[in-house]
Amino acid sequence: MYIVGMNFHQVLEFVPKKGVIAELGVKRGANARRMFKTTDAAMMHLVDPWAKDEDVGYASLHSAEERQDFVGYYNEMVSWSESPEAGGRVNVIRDYAADAASSFEDKYFDFVYVDTLDSYDGFYGDLAAYAPKMKDEAILSGDDYYDMQYATHKMRLRDRLPPTQSLCMIHAANDFCEMHGWEILFITDEYLPARRPPRFFAGKVGVFGDAHRLLDQVLRVTPWAVEVANPRDVRQTMVTPLGSTNPEERRFFTKII
Ligand SMILES: C[S@@+](CC[C@H](N)C(=O)[O-])C[C@H]1O[C@@H](n2cnc3c(N)ncnc32)[C@H](O)[C@@H]1O
Repeated sequence: MYIVGMNFHQVLEFVPKKGVIAELGVKRGANARRMFKTTDAAMMHLVDPWAKDEDVGYASLHSAEERQDFVGYYNEMVSWSESPEAGGRVNVIRDYAADAASSFEDKYFDFVYVDTLDSYDGFYGDLAAYAPKMKDEAILSGDDYYDMQYATHKMRLRDRLPPTQSLCMIHAANDFCEMHGWEILFITDEYLPARRPPRFFAGKVGVFGDAHRLLDQVLRVTPWAVEVANPRDVRQTMVTPLGSTNPEERRFFTKII
C-alpha cells in the first residue's frame, strides 16, 4: 500500500469518467456533487437514511433539531436530483446503506465511496454489503482511515478512546479486504491541505482493473509517495508541544509502526 501526497478530489480526476457510481453517507451532498461533476457519472446513487428513524445508529447522535436539518438535506438532494444539472442521472435513496444494497444487481458499480458510520461494525458491514455489487475491475473507496483518537479536522484529542474503538476504521477496512478478497492500494494524505483524515482506495485482489490503473496514474503525478508493507501499521496521529494547551499548535503526522 502507498500513502500519497494528494487529496480525494485530486484523485477523483483520474477515476474513469461516465461510470456507475455511489456515495454511501451523503449528508448535505457537498462531496456527492463534486464526485458527480468530476467523474461525469453515467448514474450516481446517493444512499443515506437522512435521520429517517429517530433512534437508530448514527441518527441517534443527533438532537431533534439536528434531525430536522437532515430532513432539509434530504429535500435538497431530492431537488438537485430532479434538476437539469443532474440530468436524470442522480438517484436518491433514503435508507441505510446495507439495507439498500439488495436493490442493486451484482457487479453493477464502477466506483463506490463509503462515508457512513464511524464504527467497526457499521463500516465493515457497509463495505461487505457492497462488495458483491462491485464489478471485478471496480474501485472501492472509504473515508476516515485513521486513528480516531485524533480528531484531525477539529484539531483535538478525543477523550481517551480505547484502542479497540480508536483503530476501528483501520481494522474494519483491513478485515473487510482480507475476508472479501480486496486490497487497499493507496490512502490519501489530506492533513495539510484539508485538515482531514485519509481516504482509502481499494481494488480486487488478482484483477488489474480500474483501481490498479488509478494507482498507476496517481503515482505518476503525486508529489510524493511512501510505500508501506502492511496497511495496518499506518495511522494518523498528533503531537502536542510540551505545555501547550492551544489546539492550533497541535501537529498531525502519519506514523508507521
Ligand atoms: C460524514 S457524513 C457524510 C458526508 C458526505 N459524504 C460528504 O463528504 O459530504 C455521514 C453521513 O452518513 C449517514 N449515515 C449514517 N449511517 C448510515 C448508514 N447506515 N447508511 C448510509 N448512510 C448513513 C449520516 O446520515 C450522514 O449523513
